[in-house]
Amino acid sequence: MEPAKTRAAAHPDGIVDLSVGTPVDPVPQVIRQALVGSADTPGYPLTAGTATLRAAITGWLARACRASGDLGVLPTIGSKELVAWLPTLLGVGPGDRVVIPQVCYPTYEVGVRLAGAEVIRSDSLTAVGPAPVKLVWINSPSNPTGRVLPVEHLRKVVAWARERGAVVVSDECYLSLGWETEPVSVLSDEVTGGDYTGVLAVHSLSKRSNLAGYRAGFVGGDPALVGELLAVRKHGGMIVPAPVQAAMAAALTDEEHVAVQRERYAARREILRSALVKAGFEISHSEAGLYLWATRGEDCWQTVDRLAERGILAAPGAFYGPAAARHVRIALTATDERVAAAADRLADGW
Ligand SMILES: Cc1ncc(COP(=O)(O)O)c(C=O)c1O
Repeated sequence: MEPAKTRAAAHPDGIVDLSVGTPVDPVPQVIRQALVGSADTPGYPLTAGTATLRAAITGWLARACRASGDLGVLPTIGSKELVAWLPTLLGVGPGDRVVIPQVCYPTYEVGVRLAGAEVIRSDSLTAVGPAPVKLVWINSPSNPTGRVLPVEHLRKVVAWARERGAVVVSDECYLSLGWETEPVSVLSDEVTGGDYTGVLAVHSLSKRSNLAGYRAGFVGGDPALVGELLAVRKHGGMIVPAPVQAAMAAALTDEEHVAVQRERYAARREILRSALVKAGFEISHSEAGLYLWATRGEDCWQTVDRLAERGILAAPGAFYGPAAARHVRIALTATDERVAAAADRLADGW
């Protein structure tokens, strides 16, 4: 990426960096106040989370994920650390197989490798073959493609995994960002009927609440699996700081700031989508999430270079798996001013 970045940065009006999904809008006041209000916390925080936070997570999962059963819940230090360490924390190791999506967030593979297990990249479980599988990662809405897995697909994955004694982990950190489809959680009653055996959902407040800087995530699902995670994480020192726990509870009990942030992303998405289409890009999937998954039918590095000539930095699809070599990922996380600059540059001809 460095040559493209240097090239884009040389644009006289500055770079428009759409290569990373890092929030740029302010942390909502209600969350900041909760953080500051919990600044005087000299003791060790609870790994399991305060009673207030646990209730906030459970309540949010019941409302937003339509999960009415008896859930285990646990806060995490953002969701990336959990994605990277989950296989290891659940005892997955050498000789075990883990399925990850064909095109996906790179940390799933990192986590499987950290555990010393084998990575199977597949979107089709029938293609996985008869050998045992320990864990299946799914990600809906997907980073980078924005694809949403329908209820029937989620049901099939859960049934398939249960037949084989595998754990299903659904990364749902973009759940609140559905544009053309309303994403469904794996914990939804429609999928599990309130029985979470072998099922976990990973969530993050980074995108929903602009809290990437706080490191605020959580996992919910099978109480036995969550209990196992808690036991290991307690001894591993994987504890969410007390002020962040207070901030998370405030974030999860307020939907107003989520609606405001959604509107910002919706407006930026529309400007970028229309500018890309006019410039000859085809947009694939992208029905939800924080990215536009775009192609010009050429090698992704060529598209990255041509965008960089216009001062725009995009992420090459190849970063997300060998099957994505002709796409680029365009993030919606830039200021309104930078998004408008990108649209102007795209309109200047290709
Ligand atoms: C699919 C997916 N999962 C997890 C994460 C990690 O997010 P965080 O660690 O900020 O919660 C990201 C970040 O971009 C992501 O795209």
